[in-house]
Amino acid sequence: MGRLVVVSNRVPSSSDRQQPAGGLAVALQDALSHGEALWFGWSGQQIAQAEASNRKPSEETVDNVTYATIDLTHAEFDGFYQKYSNGILWPLCHYRAGLMDYSRKDREVYLTVNHLFAQQLRPLLRPDDIIWVHDYHLFPLGQALRDVGITNPIGFFLHIPFPPWSLMKALPGAERLMHSLESYDVIGLQTEDDARNMNDGLEQCGVQTRGQVFPIGIDPASFAAQAKACEDDFDVQRLQQSLRGRPLVIGVDRLDYSKGIPERFHGYEAFLKRFPEHKGKVMYLQIAPVSRGTVEEYRRLKQDLDETAGRINGMYGDFDWTPIRYITHPVPRHLLAGFYRLADVALVTPLRDGMNLVAKEYVAAQDEEDPGVLILSHFAGAAPEMEDALLVNPHDADEIADALHKALTMTQSERQERWERLKPDVWRVTAGSWARDFIEQLVRVERG
Ligand code: ADP
Ligand code: F6P
Repeated sequence: MGRLVVVSNRVPSSSDRQQPAGGLAVALQDALSHGEALWFGWSGQQIAQAEASNRKPSEETVDNVTYATIDLTHAEFDGFYQKYSNGILWPLCHYRAGLMDYSRKDREVYLTVNHLFAQQLRPLLRPDDIIWVHDYHLFPLGQALRDVGITNPIGFFLHIPFPPWSLMKALPGAERLMHSLESYDVIGLQTEDDARNMNDGLEQCGVQTRGQVFPIGIDPASFAAQAKACEDDFDVQRLQQSLRGRPLVIGVDRLDYSKGIPERFHGYEAFLKRFPEHKGKVMYLQIAPVSRGTVEEYRRLKQDLDETAGRINGMYGDFDWTPIRYITHPVPRHLLAGFYRLADVALVTPLRDGMNLVAKEYVAAQDEEDPGVLILSHFAGAAPEMEDALLVNPHDADEIADALHKALTMTQSERQERWERLKPDVWRVTAGSWARDFIEQLVRVERG
């Protein structure tokens, strides 16, 4: 097999590589650890229009991976990333068409940036490379690469959900988008539902290509080892001491409306109201690093969460107890693993999520003698693989409250039984197996 070329909007900077927040970066870290590879994408930097004319990718090689990145102009960043990708495609793919703020101008910028990616990537490619494009920012990149003469095998993986065609076609130009997918040799989606939705759309548009399911996972063995090794870490100990024997409920998410954090806060509030015996006797830590903070809807969400956490803490807290500890900065991965292991309950309650790696990380981090309980939304892509979690409807605050009470009063033997049944799938479908399965398909195209 030739070199693996990964293309995604975001390429982690050297500091992000230490603590990536976001499923894509975390999953690809493992995939890129074997063989020579090139990772191409946006640098995360913006430049003035005047500097754009002789743009070239800047390259940095670390071990076996070369990171090649290009800057975007302010207008490209706005139209391509903020508006079209995250103000139109993201809400639509998460079944929130009402939040979609469509403009034809942004679509033009989106297409232009996809063509820019193709032009800038072309000189870096070798004839035997296999190319793997990631996520909704780059739906039309396969087509753009074919347009500049690239004949290498090209695969596409969508990390987020794909909605039913009846919803997707609310996107002006949706048919053209479906036709552009024909340029890919392999298309991967997270779940059966997503593949069914996409394939129905492709069929309705008369496109022959079909998507297949490649559920994404984590690297469970190393995550579990990290969690165990972290038990004595200074900061993990600090957290443990601050609990003063109280059970810990944890939530870990990018600050995104798809994650259902306000609904979760309401669920926790209903829990405190309906089960007052837990008041003062439980600690809920929500870690939610700010994400896409320049997009209006995300700013509104942060404001809403700040207010809701403040209101709940004011109403239910006491001079020696804060119901919700809420932080909006990322936490280093090794610490996160230690925090998960310490937590008696994890609340993973997205309104809609491609997969949700946090659910898998929580299971991997547990102490098998005394595992915690996972409360998981039916609408996480991980739910079909994790039916032994306490599955909830995140829109129903009372259901979250009941699940919290059940989790916090569950016997050790039931916790162990549930965890034993959750573990095999987390260990079977990993970041490594996901990448291997996908790449194998692409290589078959290369040979075929
Ligand atoms: P998404 O891709 O939408 O962000 P996932 O749950 O699939 O959602 O992946 C999130 C990844 O980012 C996980 O690996 C998780 O550990 C990491 N992450 C999420 N929140 C934080 C945080 N506060 N600090 C550090 N890493 C985080
Ligand atoms: O997994 C979904 C995803 O959009 C990734 O493509 C992305 O890297 C991550 O979430 C974080 O989002 P952003 O790159 O917009 O900060």
